Amino acid sequence: MATICMLSAGALNPADMQARTESTLTHGWQFAKVDSLGNRDAWQDVRVPHDWAIHEPFDRAHDLQVVAVEQNGETEKTEKTGRTGGLPYMGRGIYTTTFEVPDTVGQHFTLVFDGAMSNPKVSVNGQHVGGWAYGYNSFHLSLPTGVVHPGSNTLTVELENKPQSSRWYPGAGLYRNVHLIATSKVHVPVWGTYVTTPYVSADEASVKLITRIEGAAKGAAVDVNTEIIAPDGSVVATNNSIYHSHGQPFTQDFLVEKPKRWSPDTPWLYVARTTLSVDGKAVDTYSTRFGIRSLEYIPEKGFFLNGEYTKFKGVCNHHDLGPLGAAVNRAALRHQIEMLKDMGANAIRTSHNMPAPELVELCDELGMMLMVEPFDDWGFRPKSVNGYGSIFGEWAERDMMNMIHHYRNNASVVMWSIGNEVPSQWGPDGVQELQMLLDIAHREDPTRPVTCGMDQIGAVLDNGFAAALDIPGFNYKPQYYLKAYKMLPQRLVLGSETASTVSSRGCYIFPMQRRANAVHDNHQSSSYDTEFCYWSNIPDIDFAMDDDYPWIIGQFVWTGFDYLGEPSPYDTDAWPNHSSVFGIIDLASLPKDRYYLYRSQWNRTSPTLHILPHWNWKGREGEITPVVVYTSYPQAELFVNGKSMGVRKKVDSGVLDYAEVAKTPYWERDRVQHIQDRNDSLAMNRYRLIWDDVVYQPGEVKVVAMDDAGKPVEERTVRTAGKAHHIVLSANRKEIVADGNDLVYVTVNVADKDANIVPDDNRMVKLSAVQWRSHRYSACGIYSGQSRTCSFRTRCSSRHNCDRRKIKNAADAAWNKSHSDVIYNRDRNLAYLAKFRLFFEEFIYVGLAFFAIFASKNTLKKYIINN
Ligand code: GAL
Repeated sequence: MATICMLSAGALNPADMQARTESTLTHGWQFAKVDSLGNRDAWQDVRVPHDWAIHEPFDRAHDLQVVAVEQNGETEKTEKTGRTGGLPYMGRGIYTTTFEVPDTVGQHFTLVFDGAMSNPKVSVNGQHVGGWAYGYNSFHLSLPTGVVHPGSNTLTVELENKPQSSRWYPGAGLYRNVHLIATSKVHVPVWGTYVTTPYVSADEASVKLITRIEGAAKGAAVDVNTEIIAPDGSVVATNNSIYHSHGQPFTQDFLVEKPKRWSPDTPWLYVARTTLSVDGKAVDTYSTRFGIRSLEYIPEKGFFLNGEYTKFKGVCNHHDLGPLGAAVNRAALRHQIEMLKDMGANAIRTSHNMPAPELVELCDELGMMLMVEPFDDWGFRPKSVNGYGSIFGEWAERDMMNMIHHYRNNASVVMWSIGNEVPSQWGPDGVQELQMLLDIAHREDPTRPVTCGMDQIGAVLDNGFAAALDIPGFNYKPQYYLKAYKMLPQRLVLGSETASTVSSRGCYIFPMQRRANAVHDNHQSSSYDTEFCYWSNIPDIDFAMDDDYPWIIGQFVWTGFDYLGEPSPYDTDAWPNHSSVFGIIDLASLPKDRYYLYRSQWNRTSPTLHILPHWNWKGREGEITPVVVYTSYPQAELFVNGKSMGVRKKVDSGVLDYAEVAKTPYWERDRVQHIQDRNDSLAMNRYRLIWDDVVYQPGEVKVVAMDDAGKPVEERTVRTAGKAHHIVLSANRKEIVADGNDLVYVTVNVADKDANIVPDDNRMVKLSAVQWRSHRYSACGIYSGQSRTCSFRTRCSSRHNCDRRKIKNAADAAWNKSHSDVIYNRDRNLAYLAKFRLFFEEFIYVGLAFFAIFASKNTLKKYIINN
């Protein structure tokens, strides 16, 4: 039973029974799958957010899609194995819970769903109260008077996911939070305010707050008192005015002196706290968090945040959290943002759907800009038969409105995207769909520009599609940016999706070669970061374009993190691959080598010096084994067993010349491959230090980085590790909040006796947590039951070849053992309430892996391997 906790959102008199109360309905839910005949499975007790598919075994047959992917130029249908992750997200499910309401007199009740996958139909006490279609959008349902009664009330949500409705793993069920809001009759509705900052300078800012007020009788006077609260908690501006209710919104203006302006480095947040009073009695208090910052997109000059030139150093991310599935988790999202910030990233594109509110709130708080994007499909020739395209006509406007109303007050949101690689790019009908969406965005939020991820560059430059956008965003077309810039009226270009380089963490494939669509027997991609898809490229090209042209406002790399589904280039009849390898960071949230390449360019405050590959190459003695260094320093000298391999310097040989490529239609680029190759190698020498003639011999590789003057400034060494000796567990946090949701990420390393990581140790490690009370955990490594040639599989966490059945059995066994809810923190001798849930997806892990668990510092030790 979920009880509404009567926490007032505002400073109301406790005697005032009309205070706004909000509760998140997490506990007491029951869930069951329903088959196609309507037969229901037994109820399971679950907590919401909940993803009904993530614990199930992977299987090739799940949502096997036999399609020709038009965007990739395919004309013949083939079996796209693992396209949606190989998990049974399809089908029907039903959730039910109860909530307690002490009194209903004079109250108004609203249910808010942050997202429900998908087609939710909602009933309260057996009465249907509404629903939604799109699984990613937030929606709210105002409950008719009389539906909720004092005492216990039953809430039921039925959902249905159709097969072939996605190009990636969507998740299933109530995977985001559900809230119940009780207000008085006169109240501010959900997302009922709109804050803008029409004028911003270092000295002062104007703030405009538009508030909708519902429930007041026509002509009634409502006292509206708004305080602007600064980040330090002080009230810096107030406006107290009378609203005469005629259904119109109410506008209040404020002046804030010396504003603390929001930016990724200074994520200051203000709150507008509005109290409504009727006849002298406070009836509602509504808080709107916002930031004061200016956004300017200036033709030819670029993007300016608070007057400062700013490039988007962004990543695209899907919404799933790897082994945690799609169920939203604030701690996991925080971990992602922290890793991205350390890499120097300043922006995320929520590709290709509305984000969870937790992500947007965290981006506000931690300082990360957001491009918020609603969908991947419009109505014209949809990519998935049962995807968004099938409901676009009926739902697009409502979905856009909810998305914009929900997030238009968030400081982090700096741009809307209205779509991604929609086939509508190809023709005049498409431009109509584009115009419809643009008009909605401009109407609902004129303060942010609108872009769209376009891949059909030839078509969109010629048919008016690209010219209609505020910001033309291109997916994978750096070679054509200059052409687009010259042809388009906006005089700005964005890399809305870039790179799509593919790599498996720690898996180096010889010889080191730049190659499109390289596939290998081991179903992995090389961690030398030289492999990509035939539509994409190495990161270096995008760095060069960003560095050379101010009117390129930056890029969003595909992707920050690996995700479930879309296992390109192993997407066609290549089971068991079922997760992407596009990520800069892998599914286990461990950085791949590429992380340090981006870091070396993007993190301007802390230096980067990273060597690849590892140096355990038994059997490669005497063979060429290239060494590459990703560094923020301009030059370095490499030593192998004390012998210098020479100095390498980053070489900037001027802007890349794509004039000939740009004259060639995109699909015929192969004709000018030699020009692309030349540019690729110029760019690589500009951003990587490469010693491609190193001959492997065991021992030690040392790099000494130097400044411009040749003075040594930092060094790093990688050694050939000896026999495995012990396991080291390290946690990303020392303490966690015991709220049942918080996580700690534990990385497991196999080390030799001298603490060198043993990169090629394939042992299986079973993990279990000291169980004072309940906890949940999820591990992500790779099971080594099948022999493969990748010699560094211990660091490959993409789980391509895992034996899922064995893992599942182990998982189930452990799952059934876990209960209860307290963790004892020995550090402080405190009984720490921590609801630990066992998210057991994989119990097996070899070598270096990740493991999200809830533990105190003292449980992390060095374990000696006895073998
Ligand atoms: C893009 C697409 C993304 C993803 C990516 C892989 O074309 O927009 O969703 O599929 O390719 O490279």
